[in-house]
Amino acid sequence: MWTNTAAVLDCTQDQFFDVVHAALRGCCNFIQKVCRSKLEKVRMAMTARTCSLPVRMVSNEALLLMAPVFLILLGAAAVVIPLVVVLFVMYHKLSLGTSLLREQITRETTNVASNVFAQLEALLYLQQELKLSHALPPTRGWAASPDFLRNVCSHTLAQRPASVVECSSGISTLVLARCMQLNGQGHVHSLEHDPEFAEKTRQLLRLHGLESWATVCDAPLKPLVLPSWTGQWYSYEVLPAKLAIELMVIDGPPWFVAELARYPAIPALYERMQANSAVFLDDADRPGEKELVRRWEAEFPALQKMLVPICEKGCVALKKTGS
Ligand SMILES: C[S@@+](CC[C@H](N)C(=O)[O-])C[C@H]1O[C@@H](n2cnc3c(N)ncnc32)[C@H](O)[C@@H]1O
Repeated sequence: MWTNTAAVLDCTQDQFFDVVHAALRGCCNFIQKVCRSKLEKVRMAMTARTCSLPVRMVSNEALLLMAPVFLILLGAAAVVIPLVVVLFVMYHKLSLGTSLLREQITRETTNVASNVFAQLEALLYLQQELKLSHALPPTRGWAASPDFLRNVCSHTLAQRPASVVECSSGISTLVLARCMQLNGQGHVHSLEHDPEFAEKTRQLLRLHGLESWATVCDAPLKPLVLPSWTGQWYSYEVLPAKLAIELMVIDGPPWFVAELARYPAIPALYERMQANSAVFLDDADRPGEKELVRRWEAEFPALQKMLVPICEKGCVALKKTGS
């Protein structure tokens, strides 16, 4: 937007010099015209009185007398006209900037309003489908957003996965556990590196009477070396050894623990993912997440993108095709 503004302002400066030039030329013409007519009047008056002095001399004297006046007028015009034009250009620039700012504010306000509406719709969906015994804790921020939770929830209720693995616990664990309960089958294993958050999620599950549908696994981050990645990831050996994964929900670890912190989820657990199993990745609009999705797709061609409604923080859904 600012590039466009600069282009418009540059163009206005060219026009500004044209206007100054034309104004000065007009002013000179005007002064010349006034002087000529004054001199003509003096000449005529002198002739009428049959002055003995030659007419040419009178006009030269008159010219000498009027010269300071012309100079003062010219000086005033030279100061006033550019000042007026500068003020005009400043006003023009300001009004242009203001209207661009107004457009930007309107656009952003509209985006915020439609996002708030989308989140409210998703919350209503969750409320209607899940009918939890207590209110859903605050979403967004560190927690998943309602639109992401709705995508995960609608997939889980429709596909009825028997086994879900989640990377990072919280409200998403509560939603998944309730889906298991509504489906009457399945279990969630949630990897959580932070013992404090693990305990909070367990309390949340107990509050909703859902503790038998989800297990929060204490999985401290520890060094992991993969062919194309090195860093810290969950101690995933805490998962049951023969777990056949039908759904993976990836919302951790937090981005700051390693570069492409969520990349290991697929390479580490790919062998345990069943045919037609799905992966939901939150925060997929972040550059790091975009890069790790590119890598997963290149390294695991059986993963195909599924079409899902867009989410405020981005949501990528993949399906493991083939046998
Ligand atoms: C993006 S959060 C996971 C949120 C979870 N999936 C949910 O829907 O609530 C990733 C990790 O950040 C940590 N975490 C959660 N809330 C936090 C907070 N308020 N401050 C710092 N870390 C937090 C937890 O260890 C969690 O596993």
